[in-house]
Amino acid sequence: MILAPSILSADFARLEVEIKEVEGYGCNWLHVDVMDGHFVPNLTIGPVVVESLRSKTRSTLDCHLMVNEPEKMVPWFIKAGADVITIHFEAVKDLRGLLNSIRAAGRKTGVSVKPKTPITVLEPFLADLDLVLIMSVEPGFGGQSFMPEQLDKAKWLASKKKSGAFKGLIEIDGGINLKTAGVAKAAGVEVFVAGSAIFSAKDRKQAYADLEKAIK
Ligand code: DX5
Ligand code: ZN
Repeated sequence: MILAPSILSADFARLEVEIKEVEGYGCNWLHVDVMDGHFVPNLTIGPVVVESLRSKTRSTLDCHLMVNEPEKMVPWFIKAGADVITIHFEAVKDLRGLLNSIRAAGRKTGVSVKPKTPITVLEPFLADLDLVLIMSVEPGFGGQSFMPEQLDKAKWLASKKKSGAFKGLIEIDGGINLKTAGVAKAAGVEVFVAGSAIFSAKDRKQAYADLEKAIK
């Protein structure tokens, strides 16, 4: 089980301090939300920030690209040093082609689906995926409420793992906290993204430890 703090809820003016703090609690994945102001109504991190983060950490940089034209932007994030590159099914034209180029660059391939997109659209691509990211909120902002019906997607993926059709990781993003982490785990989730539940907690160390306990 992997707990991946989402730096979207960190203080961007002191990112290095923020990531070192959560790494001190034991994490070695950092979730990086890239938003372009078009695919989602928010604008966040670009490749220059990922490149700077890369120079400060050996943690897995789990880059979630909520962007239109991912074909154009994926090479920028490969160059910046992203480890996992997750693109949105809804935004990509040639999914297989883009997954192939991510793999060819030696990075892990991920695809995400928005809440209204059925998970079964990924069936033909399962063998090409190192990770599937289930959105349990509408992408765009931290601090939203978890959508429990999205867990059916995790259950579907877990059944595909059982049959051997999918060998990647099941990741969930949005509204993960002490209450929701346990049900997500029970549905088969293996990578838990948490932004506000860690960075906005009064006692971050305790919040991290409690969440870690809930997913172990
Ligand atoms: C939402 C982002 C999430 C966000 C989650 O579009 O993809 O990664 O940081 O934030 P919380 O954990 O606060 O729901
Ligand atoms: Zn995300």
